[in-house]
This record gives sequence, structure tokens and C-alpha cells, in this order.
Amino acid sequence: MATIIDGKQRAANLTGVVANAAAVLESEAGIRPGLAVVIVGNNPASHAYVNAKSRMAKQCGFNSMQYSLPEETTQDELESLVAKLNADPAVHGILVQLPLPGHLDAEPVTQLVRPEKDVDGLTVVNAGKVASGDLASGLVSCTPAGAMILLRDLHGADLSGLNAVVIGRSNLFGKPMGLLLLAANATVTMAHSRTKDLPSVCRQADILVAAVGRPFMVKKDWVKPGATIIDVGINRIDAPELGEGKTRLVGDVAYEECAERAGAITPVPGGVGPMTIAMLMANTVVAAYRSLGRPIPTF
Ligand code: GUN
Repeated sequence: MATIIDGKQRAANLTGVVANAAAVLESEAGIRPGLAVVIVGNNPASHAYVNAKSRMAKQCGFNSMQYSLPEETTQDELESLVAKLNADPAVHGILVQLPLPGHLDAEPVTQLVRPEKDVDGLTVVNAGKVASGDLASGLVSCTPAGAMILLRDLHGADLSGLNAVVIGRSNLFGKPMGLLLLAANATVTMAHSRTKDLPSVCRQADILVAAVGRPFMVKKDWVKPGATIIDVGINRIDAPELGEGKTRLVGDVAYEECAERAGAITPVPGGVGPMTIAMLMANTVVAAYRSLGRPIPTF
């Protein structure tokens, strides 16, 4: 049976370090890291994520600012808010929760965020730094950064000689994850919906990362014996076995059967998810330290 990778515990450890760093900043410089989270519309899953982020920011001792805008918010109104947050020295990190309602264009909003405050790592400046191998001077997208910490704990910082397969090629996760694995010397395959014979590609993977948004897609016979599986999927499915109308969260990996063959695996929930929130806190405290010209804490 596979080792279960406890992302919840690792995230708690990380947020402890972040809270400490925030306390030091407050006592030495009188500054609290400020995180502004913007959400537009009524998507219940997005509200749940955003509430968790705001709650954790408070727990870390941050100045946590949540902007909940109505569904009918215009592009101009949203961009004006981001511009205002860009100009506010009390705000060190800005996150605009995605997806936005259909009438809004996410890309110009994302690119409007000042790179120094882009705690999501989605601006071309920060994404470009990751692509060019500069992992030190920008801000790295939270979910891939969190997944890399879990991999570093297991395999060390140098993944030389290991084959990594990432399924999914989004800007938010798949692309930066592939690049971070490459920077750590893994041999990387970025697979996606058009990949031919995905199961056999996955069977080559010492590290298999799934981020497709399809419940239970990765099956046991896709898994190389002893592989490390990182499941980034968060899918809500009906769970009548829990009672009428109940739902539960599952990943992109058929967890039970794959755990029989893998060497290590992240559960859903309790794997990558908590690491994403912890890395958001880490990015925010880093942004606050940099804004004061202080050497940043390491995680
Ligand atoms: N929606 C789902 N995950 C994320 C994330 O990491 N950042 C943002 N901004 N939106 C998301």
C-alpha cells in the first residue's frame, strides 16, 4: 500500500512558519501583510474556497480583505477595484478568484495585477520567470508550488533521472507544474486531452500529476508500481451513500485502486488543496517582506 501524503499536516507546518514571519514583520516594522481576495458572483464552490483563504489569512495574522462583488459587476468596475488595490500600500497580495462570470474577461484583469502583488503567479512577468528558470525573484503559482513542496519532502530537491507526467496544461496549474518539475531536473511529459494513449504515457511516470477535473480518471493500470501520485483534482460528486442530496469531494485519481500500486499518493481532500492555501499565505508574506526590502523567509 502507498504512503498517504498528508498535505493537511504539511500545510499546517507551513502556515506556522508564515504566521511566525508575519509576527516578526509586525513587531519589527509595524506592518501586517495585507491580502485582498476578490470574488465576483455567486459560485458556491468559489465562495467556499475564498472563505477558506480569508480565514487562513486571519489565522496567519494578516490584514485579510475580502471583496465580494455582485454577479452583474462590469469589466470596468472590476478593473477599477484591481487598480485601487494595486495602488494601496497596505495591500501586499491580490487574488481575483477564477473562474469569473461568463460576461467578464479574466485575462486583462489577471494581467492588471502588479507582478509584486500577484500572489497567484498568473501575470506574464511571474509566469515568464518560472518559464525561464528564475524561481527566486518572482511569485510562483500556489498549487504547483505546494505540490513541489510535497515532492521535495519525498524525493529531495533534485529529481534527476525521474520521469514526471503532468496531465493537464492550464496556465493556473499544468504549465507551471511542468516547468517547476523541469527546473528540478525531472524528465517531463505534459499530457492533455489530445495525447495519444494516455494510459501508456502515464505508466512511464515515476511522478504522476493529475489535474484534469474528471473524477476517478486515472486508473490502477495507468500507474507504474511504486510511483508517486499527486492528485490535483477537486471534483464534487453525488454521494447518496452519505444520505439524500449529499455530495463529497473526490480527485482525478481512482484513489483506492491506485493506492494499491503507487508508492505514495495524495488524498482528496487533504492532499494538495491545503498546500494551495498555505502557499498563498507564503506568497503574501514574501510579497510583504519584499515591499520593505527585507530578506524573505524560506519555506
Ligand atoms: N480558482 C481555482 N483555483 C484558483 C487559484 O489558485 N487562484 C485563483 N485566482 N482562482 C482559482
